[in-house]
This record gives sequence, C-alpha cells and structure tokens, in this order.
Amino acid sequence: MSIVKINVLNVPAEQREILEKRFASRAGAVEGSDGFEWFELLRPVEGTDDYLVYTRWRDEESFQAWMEGPMKQAHQGGEAGSERPKPAAAGSTLWSFEVVQQAAPKQG
Ligand code: HEM
Repeated sequence: MSIVKINVLNVPAEQREILEKRFASRAGAVEGSDGFEWFELLRPVEGTDDYLVYTRWRDEESFQAWMEGPMKQAHQGGEAGSERPKPAAAGSTLWSFEVVQQAAPKQG
C-alpha cells in the first residue's frame, strides 16, 4: 500500500494569505513525478493553527526521488535566478505514515 508524507507548516496568522498565494502559484511539478498519487493543502479550521501539506506516494523510493530532484525546484519560489522570497512558514515538520486501510465510495 501507499505511503503518506505530510509537511506540517507553522504559519503566523499574518502570513496565511501569502502562504496560500504561494501554493496557488506552485510549480505543479509534483503531478508529473513517478509514484505521486495525491496532494492536498489543508487549511486549519479547528484544533490546530498548522497547515498540512498532504502527499501520498506509491512507495518511499518515489518520495525520496521527488525530494532529491523536483522538490528542490518546486521550492525555489519566484523567478529563476531571483532572490528566494522570505518563507511564509515560521517552521515545518515532516510526518511519515503507511496506509493501513483505505476506502472510496461505491460506484453507481
Ligand atoms: C522546509 C520546509 C518547507 C516549507 C517552508 C515549504 C513550503 C512550501 C511552499 C510555500 C510551497 C509553495 C511553492 C513555493 O512558493 O515554494 C510549497 C510547495 C510544495 N511543498 Fe513544501 N515546504 C517545505 C518542505 C516540503 C516537504 C518536506 C514536502 C513533502 C511532503 C513538501 C511538499 C510540497 C509540495 C507537494 C508542494 C507543491 C509542489 C509542486 O506544485 O510541484 N514541502 N511548499
């Protein structure tokens, strides 16, 4: 079964809009990465102030390959060669999970 990697972003209230704008103009490179299965940016509503960047992958190797290559470009931000903008997040933590069970709605 797949694996889940969640990047937890601590985002000060005044930086939220900036963070969401940056994701709105994200590279879109992850979609083309071998073994990539799903991405969601989760905005906190209750119980936490942290944003979650949810990603699901076929296996650990696929995630590592993305981390070593496309991930770096996807996190450059701004124009090529320009200064990297100040990060919108004040901190981050990477969580790793294995999918143990999953379900999807019945078709028809
Ligand atoms: C070092 C801490 C990190 C911070 C502060 C951060 C923050 C961000 C931000 C602001 C963006 C929007 C694009 C940009 O402006 O760069 C982005 C894109 C993204 N981040 Fe991170 N990130 C970090 C590390 C990670 C890690 C470890 C993962 C692994 C799950 C991850 C998953 C993603 C994905 C999937 C995208 C979209 C890339 C695409 O569209 O191709 N990030 N991140």
